[in-house]
Amino acid sequence: MQTNCRRKRTAVLISGRGSNMQALVERARVPSFPAEIALVLSNRPEAAGLAFARANDVACAAVDHKIYAGREEFERSMQALLELHRIEIICLAGFMRLLTPSFIGQWQGRMLNIHPALLPAYRGLDTHARALADGVKIHGCTAHFVVPAMDEGPIVAQAAVAVLDGDTPETLAARVLEQEHLIYPAALERLAAGRLRIEGNRVYSDDPEGAPPALRNPEA
Ligand code: GAR
Repeated sequence: MQTNCRRKRTAVLISGRGSNMQALVERARVPSFPAEIALVLSNRPEAAGLAFARANDVACAAVDHKIYAGREEFERSMQALLELHRIEIICLAGFMRLLTPSFIGQWQGRMLNIHPALLPAYRGLDTHARALADGVKIHGCTAHFVVPAMDEGPIVAQAAVAVLDGDTPETLAARVLEQEHLIYPAALERLAAGRLRIEGNRVYSDDPEGAPPALRNPEA
């Protein structure tokens, strides 16, 4: 009988609501999923996502950035916890602290982020309001490897949604978030299964040939 590879021990770093973390935890419940969520870590002790982790028997901890003199001390504490839990992959999921190049370097090729825009457009904050202000017709989200430059790094997966006439930042955010919950687990699955190859800025996976249908808005 063929034995499955060991599941990769994954930490999800959050700062707030944690809906992407929930999507990852739920997907990783499938026994054949190649990653297990072994730790949820928040830099804010009051983060709502921690309650979900506790209620679902996922190991969780808060490392409150406010009690540390600087970023290096804060990150040393996080790194110690990550090592204690033998973490192999990190998923940033609404983690709103900038990380130092030295921390990021330790996790190069093993740390993903989810961003609520079609990178390289709309790096930074308030992506949905800025997309609406620019009048774009298509918006979306990106799962990518983390590099020292904020919201850069090789792109693993993207999903696009149509911008509707009646959209507000909130309605647009809700449709994008649904897509985040789909592409982030898919990106983690491919990374944990060793199916991703990074060359320069491009990420190749062994997905079958053949393009999914195009999104046009308005329809042609
Ligand atoms: C998500 O929309 C995520 O893409 C975004 O924060 C939200 C967190 O929601 N991340 C960033 O803006 C990082 N640049 P969640 O806590 O419910 O997953």
